[in-house]
Amino acid sequence: MFRESLTSLKEKNIFREIKDRESPQGSRIIINGKRYINFSSNDYLGLANHPAVIKAVKNAISKFGFGSGASRLLGGGSTLHKELEKKTAIFKRRESALIFNSGYAANTGVIPALAEEGDAVFSDELNHSSIVDGCRLSKAKTFIYRHKDISHLKGLLKKVKARKKIIITDGVFSMDGDIAPLKDIYNLCLKLNANSLKPSVLLYMDDAHGTGILGDGRGSLEHFGLKPKSWIIQMGTFSKALGSLGAFVAGDKDTISWILNNARSFIFSTALPSCVIAASIASIKLIEDNPSLIKKLRINRERTVKGVLKLGYDITDSETPIIPIKTGSIEKTLQLSRYLFKKGIYAPAIRPPTVKEPRIRLTVTATHTDEDIEILIGAFNK
Ligand SMILES: Cc1ncc(COP(=O)(O)O)c(C=O)c1O
Repeated sequence: MFRESLTSLKEKNIFREIKDRESPQGSRIIINGKRYINFSSNDYLGLANHPAVIKAVKNAISKFGFGSGASRLLGGGSTLHKELEKKTAIFKRRESALIFNSGYAANTGVIPALAEEGDAVFSDELNHSSIVDGCRLSKAKTFIYRHKDISHLKGLLKKVKARKKIIITDGVFSMDGDIAPLKDIYNLCLKLNANSLKPSVLLYMDDAHGTGILGDGRGSLEHFGLKPKSWIIQMGTFSKALGSLGAFVAGDKDTISWILNNARSFIFSTALPSCVIAASIASIKLIEDNPSLIKKLRINRERTVKGVLKLGYDITDSETPIIPIKTGSIEKTLQLSRYLFKKGIYAPAIRPPTVKEPRIRLTVTATHTDEDIEILIGAFNK
């Protein structure tokens, strides 16, 4: 039925294919019986298979079994769910937190709950697709501002009349690895909310890639030394640096209660199994107790960036373990990715429509060795 459309995708070099692992996730993986150094995982700290995480998962399975059997509101959660929410709220220095089944589910549930009819959303043009979809599901009007362009955002905020205005930004942009100008956005919101008892400008930040990485793991807000405010709603995932699955939204008690009562992806979806929740709890503890993990990640990131910059590659404004290598065309990106794969390096090409400019999205982790990075740089050199 879709053969012609699929052929067209293939002709444009944008046909997507899956390569599944035969090994655990990590810096070394096995695909089709062959070992690869993996530069594509978001398991930045190597927690997905950390012994403490595996132990927590096993304990939770022994106590709670596997399946959750119902949504949170219908008894699908266990005491571990509440414990993770408490732990997350403390970690993010907020009053309250709520677990979602994924980052995608959080953004498509929370944004329509916050941004109602008569409201306006202001979204960075490079925000993650789950934010784009959340905006599409919302009854509010969406306005896109140029990437990290504060004057454009300011202009739009001034021009647009709305009951409530919600600024949405990634903390760390997932395909470019750059960080949002949160200090400027924060000060802008402070100014706009200054004379009103009820803040009418909200900031919703998706810190999927900032959580566990920036600000001692607490995320992008902490990275800039910014104090949480009632008008800030922080979303983050357990699925990236925390090596687990699921997401959270953290904020003031009333805001989180409103989300719990209105986010359809929370209300109408089966809760995550307790063992997954146990993994997230264990990961937060590991991050709190082992600052050396983030330090090692930073060292590996610097080593890699130094190497690719020396070879003349363009990594634009990346400041994090997400390092985009832009080659100018889909063909060149595919060629490079295939060459790396032949050399035993897994670094897939990211192409339109996921991104406008095709790239290899390298992700460095704390578990990469100096040798892994040397092999990568050596392959790029050739
Ligand atoms: C910025 C951002 N938000 C949300 C998500 C979705 O998170 P999840 O993979 O947990 O659904 C991702 C994952 O790719 C992301 O990069």
